[in-house]
Amino acid sequence: MKIAVLAGDGIGPEVTAQAVIALETVLAGSDKLELVYAPIGGAAVSEGGDPLPEATLETARQADAILFGAAGMPGDESLPYAQRPGASLLRLRQALGLFANYRPALLFPALAQASTLKPEVINGLDMMILRELSSDVYFGEPRGERVLPSGEREGYNTMRYSESEIERIAHCAFQTARQRRKRVCSVDKANVLESMLLWRDVVTRVGTQYPDVALSHLFVDAAAMAMMRRPLDFDVIVTGNLFGDILSDLAAMMTGSIGMLPSASLNQKGKGLYEPVHGSAPDIAGHDLANPIASILSVAMMLRYSFDMAEQAERIERAVSTVLEQGLRTQDIATPGQSSVGTRAMGEAIAQAIASQAR
Ligand code: NAD
Ligand code: IPM
Ligand code: MN
Repeated sequence: MKIAVLAGDGIGPEVTAQAVIALETVLAGSDKLELVYAPIGGAAVSEGGDPLPEATLETARQADAILFGAAGMPGDESLPYAQRPGASLLRLRQALGLFANYRPALLFPALAQASTLKPEVINGLDMMILRELSSDVYFGEPRGERVLPSGEREGYNTMRYSESEIERIAHCAFQTARQRRKRVCSVDKANVLESMLLWRDVVTRVGTQYPDVALSHLFVDAAAMAMMRRPLDFDVIVTGNLFGDILSDLAAMMTGSIGMLPSASLNQKGKGLYEPVHGSAPDIAGHDLANPIASILSVAMMLRYSFDMAEQAERIERAVSTVLEQGLRTQDIATPGQSSVGTRAMGEAIAQAIASQAR
């Protein structure tokens, strides 16, 4: 199990360190684990000017799986686009062909009070947001900035999807739904955008191959509303790159905090990059305040998707549940008046819970 660890910027290294401890703990006694650390993001820029050095990309290519922290810090906007630490993640996703981004939003029962939604609305939340990760307005050409005849500047991007790109993510959605509650909601903006009209057509066509899965469609604005109103109605949500980015942060808050949301990004060969959905959180970086659970749960996804180790994945998830039941909280998931612990203490408690489990 050769794992590239790209911890990156801000709280990336803080949460990744705890995820690595969880991984080492659950695999204790195995000599299979090999961790290869490589710089990415701002850390890599300060070393050699490139946020995604070729050597890092090669390390990622050669690894069986990648554990990513976060990239991007304030001030990045002053750099040319390709040199921005945040862009390194996009380049990495593109280079590895990572097109299927699984973002499960699950409410741990102990955190019902931490959610911004009422317990009766949120109890039992278990949705899977499947975000297409390789196309859309994120990568569409043409893109850029130009000067209009009037002398005014104009920035522009292109929203685009090809049939094959939609088809492959749609298949992922229906196959995922088959392992779950057999419902797919496809989210688009087919009432306004041609690329999304094609999205709806293709998802509908692929859906005919999965008669056992119920398919519904929502426009993204209505989907945002419906998710807040009755989140339990959702099983698998499949959507494009941009809408998936936005809706997954929305879903994160339902679980209590963005610090709770893990993700897996897979390519066609099944290779995976695993990362928390949150960013580098410059406002709390360096203060041992970040919640490491999203990163720790990302390791559980890695064990399940990349190494077929469902039992070990469940042990990590159970350990997270155990410490939350015991009342342990980082500041982001503490309710008013509840005391909280730091990143390291939370990580240590989870590792201890893993180690003391009866197997
Ligand atoms: P962010 O996710 O970094 O932070 C948003 C808010 O959530 C902040 O208040 C932060 O303190 C809080 N937060 C995030 N993770 C947390 C955790 N684990 N525990 C507790 N609180 C947490 O998003 P942002 O502020 O919009 O972006 C900051 C930088 O990160 C930007 O440069 C952005 O481009 C980058 N970013 C990177 C990724 C990534 O690497 N995957 C994702 C999103 C944003
Ligand atoms: C995410 C992030 C990234 C995205 C940024 C940092 C490029 O917000 O992974 O959700 O927009 O995909
Ligand atoms: Mn995002």
